[in-house]
Amino acid sequence: MSSTFTHISRRSLATAVKNAASVQEISVSNSTLPPNSRIFSMIQPTGRIHLGNYLGAVKSWRTLAESNTDPSNKFIYGIADLHAITVPKDPKQLKEYRYQAIASLLASGLDTSKCILFFQSAVPEHAELNWFLTCMTSMGALNRMTQWKSKAQQSDSSSILEENVLEMTKAGLFCYPALQAADILLYKSTHVPVGDDQSQHLELCRNVAKTFNSTYNTDYFPLPKTLLTPAKKILSLKTPAKKMSKSDPVATSCIYVTDTPEEITLKIKKATTDSIQGQVYFDPVERPGVSNLINIVSGLSNKSIDEVVEDMSFINNHKELKDYVTNIIIEEFDAKRQLYDELMKDRSYLESICTQGRDTAREIASTNLQEVKQIMGLD
Ligand code: TYM
Repeated sequence: MSSTFTHISRRSLATAVKNAASVQEISVSNSTLPPNSRIFSMIQPTGRIHLGNYLGAVKSWRTLAESNTDPSNKFIYGIADLHAITVPKDPKQLKEYRYQAIASLLASGLDTSKCILFFQSAVPEHAELNWFLTCMTSMGALNRMTQWKSKAQQSDSSSILEENVLEMTKAGLFCYPALQAADILLYKSTHVPVGDDQSQHLELCRNVAKTFNSTYNTDYFPLPKTLLTPAKKILSLKTPAKKMSKSDPVATSCIYVTDTPEEITLKIKKATTDSIQGQVYFDPVERPGVSNLINIVSGLSNKSIDEVVEDMSFINNHKELKDYVTNIIIEEFDAKRQLYDELMKDRSYLESICTQGRDTAREIASTNLQEVKQIMGLD
């Protein structure tokens, strides 16, 4: 494993050992990238971004771009609106969600002088490369992915070969990971900062890149590394057996970057903990709710789990723990919420950011797509 990303926690060791070259856990406060790195990631426009998106991905997008000193590196971040329509969306709501997503990213501190910010649907090369790569992706590989199953309300062990699943699953949802591979490879990306739930799609992306390279006897596509933050999986506040998600029907299970101090206080107050009294300690198996809160503080404060537990040694009960966590979250998000509210009033500013991002992204995308077409004999 490269020494450039040095912070490897015990929790990530199993994954890191399994896939040493391609998955790295980053300490985003202390990372350097090799020259000519292309850092790429996306988020779906399903409204405002939540704490899981922020700690698993967006905070590291910001820190990677902010701490970069090498002008040869590029940071490209997108709103994945073509992915969003794999589950039907009301057009008015989608339009609003797209604005909310871009305003949330800007409010979270992304600086467009340091990164490219754009809408996926504004760069048609994504859809074109998607087709080329779909032609190289096996149905078996897609069938093994779990995200389409949860979105199609099927169990992780279900298969597209089951008749009812086949009927109920749209082709776009099933083929979604090929589009995700196209997003990444279109920019010849080298590093992809994402939360743990995207690891499977990244593995598929590397396999698609390998298939392309070996089919055309080239090394055109780099094999992009998955970058995971130490807080790579933030769990639902109410049901800490599952990840924090906007689609959770229980509204208090998910904290948004734009929540008011009152909303944050209420949600943490209602968070599931346990009946173990006394000092807090980290034990994701026996104490998933408490450990999730510790993990959240660790992600927000850029401190290791051990350091956070040490900081919490004065805490003697769940109320004190919840007050402590609430204050840290409010402190992180208060100014961001205010900026978000301001940005949402200025649609033309948001549009200008996206137009500028689209033009820069398209410049790279069209050059690369032309090269891909040459390799494939389509020029
Ligand atoms: P999406 O929109 O579901 O999530 C955006 C990012 O947030 C991370 N994330 C989490 N991290 C930790 N804990 C959680 N509870 C949590 N929930 C979400 C996700 O891992 C992700 O990094 N398919 C992608 C979007 C996409 C993409 C791409 C990503 C499309 N093309 C190319 C990377 C590269 C998705 O649905 O993310």
